[in-house]
Amino acid sequence: MDKQITINYEAIENYDHLDAMEKTLFDKAMAIRNIAYAPYSDFTVGCAILLENGEIITGSNQENAAYPSGLCAERTTIFYTGANFPEVKIKKLFVIGAPRKATSSVPIPPCGACRQSILEYEAKQKDEIEIYFASLDGEIFKTKSIRDLVPFSFDSSYL
Ligand code: THU
Repeated sequence: MDKQITINYEAIENYDHLDAMEKTLFDKAMAIRNIAYAPYSDFTVGCAILLENGEIITGSNQENAAYPSGLCAERTTIFYTGANFPEVKIKKLFVIGAPRKATSSVPIPPCGACRQSILEYEAKQKDEIEIYFASLDGEIFKTKSIRDLVPFSFDSSYL
């Protein structure tokens, strides 16, 4: 029997359609992206996380000469957040990535490993994290939860 899974996401046309906090997250992700350490791929990614207490944590991808030792912007940022603010809920995660010299792009979604890592924090805090991924042109895709990006997710309930 064929079955379908539907996922929901919102397509936000451009920057002007964001509210003030979303604009701040966009700006901070863009700014930190400019200093990403990505000498091997030259694909730079910035991430901004909004906490329940209003704090914003930012991070970028960090590469390594031994390629797999590097880490994506989303995990750099969410692991720092988990390590330093273990009791504070994460409300939103905003990510923007593109080749360093690009002036135009499409919204780049978090990779599979980052989705799995974000999922862990949703489970830990028992509350959803809104995910935004943006293009350089200001088009933004938004989901209410990482679960929309991970159908058939694996979590601790199976252990
Ligand atoms: N990258 C991220 O930072 N986030 C993603 O979700 C996808 C990929 C980084 C990893 C690597 O430094 C570069 O982009 C190219 O894959």
